Amino acid sequence: MSKSAELIRRREKVVCRGVGRMSDFTVARASGATLTDADGREYIDFAGGIGVMNVGHCDPEVVAAIREQVGILMHASIHVATYEPYVALCEKLVELLPHGGETKAMLVNSGAEAVENAMKIARQATGRAGVICYTGGFHGRTLLANTLTSKVTYKVGCGPSAPEVYRLRFPVGQGRTPDAEAQAVTQELARLRETLRNTVAPGDVAAIIIELIQGEGGFHVAPVAYMKGLREICDQHGIVLIIDEVQTGFARTGRWAAHELYGIKPDLSTWAKSMGGGLPISAVVGKASIMDRASPGTLGGTFGGNPVACAGALATIRRMESLGLNARAETCGALIRERFNAIAARVPHVSDVRGLGAMMAIEFCEDGDETRPASALVKSIVTTCRDNGLLVIVAGLDGNVIRVLAPIVISDEDLRRGLSILEAAVLLHAGKTAVPS
Ligand SMILES: Cc1ncc(COP(=O)(O)O)c(C=O)c1O
Repeated sequence: MSKSAELIRRREKVVCRGVGRMSDFTVARASGATLTDADGREYIDFAGGIGVMNVGHCDPEVVAAIREQVGILMHASIHVATYEPYVALCEKLVELLPHGGETKAMLVNSGAEAVENAMKIARQATGRAGVICYTGGFHGRTLLANTLTSKVTYKVGCGPSAPEVYRLRFPVGQGRTPDAEAQAVTQELARLRETLRNTVAPGDVAAIIIELIQGEGGFHVAPVAYMKGLREICDQHGIVLIIDEVQTGFARTGRWAAHELYGIKPDLSTWAKSMGGGLPISAVVGKASIMDRASPGTLGGTFGGNPVACAGALATIRRMESLGLNARAETCGALIRERFNAIAARVPHVSDVRGLGAMMAIEFCEDGDETRPASALVKSIVTTCRDNGLLVIVAGLDGNVIRVLAPIVISDEDLRRGLSILEAAVLLHAGKTAVPS
């Protein structure tokens, strides 16, 4: 039995099934954009531990900062004693992510916790309970975050869900003609106004939470015009606009924040994943006038903003700055988009290529018909990629979208090699219908 097979056998025996397993892939160590499995086989990483490793695996400067902090202070709890790395990280976050006027931040451990805390802040600031979210949205697996999450397989049998959650249709943008997109924007903003008349009164809505590019939902990109309209409606009714940047943040789209590409500012925003360079840390950042409405003691937790995680995040951000990772994300994204478009031109099963910066995806439907997601085809492509040394993961309600969340430090050579493996797998499985190049 291989070491990988043996490790999975041990996992199956003691780890419960609810902790989902996407594949029989194992990992023993990683560096940059390369993973090595339990049997010593190397893979190009297009998954980044689900969008966490923008700065690359085990970046030497990040590792050094973590090692140093481990020898100084591992834990104190910010509720008990104030320590420098927590304050320094919040200073850095408010510098990088100004929300208009004075900005403040708070730290927790995961994306879901950031979302839960953002909701607590919005509810205390408005004195309202209602929350509006979107189809296809993913915000985590804790009770409220799971309720805000759309795909039912994440929550089947987990009820009762949290109350006062209302769901709107996500305004699908890219991939349509400009006219069709403008029409969709008008229609979905009208739907929101209608919802505020016939489903929940604006005076009962604390917050609207949205991802600008839906991560788990399949990399659908919200149109800029929709977000401008949403900002206006929130302003009109005193509703807190929360942008969930957990997957889009920290250079993935070529910006610190995806909302920089939209010309609007949220009231609150949530951050996690690549901010910590691999350590579990997350943040809520927001307008001080809203953030400070939460009463002392209602936010945070024992480990939130742990000193080691803060040191890792600070080093990660410093490294992203010195490597110019935002610019690099744009270069990677252009390369990926070009290759995906070339595949789309040859393979009729490709129904869309979409994303922003280095957050790119390619969607497969039978003969390009969006009503027939090609989930089985995508599964075969992903398996063949794995067999050929590329780890890639899927997204979307039907698992028919292949997404790229590769470490942004990936070399051009590895990126091209990974894309070639992916292209070959697509042609192998969709080859009968491919148009010769
Ligand atoms: C947009 C978004 N929000 C929240 C979360 C939840 O983050 P976590 O898994 O760290 O709780 C995720 C995770 O994928 C996400 O993509």
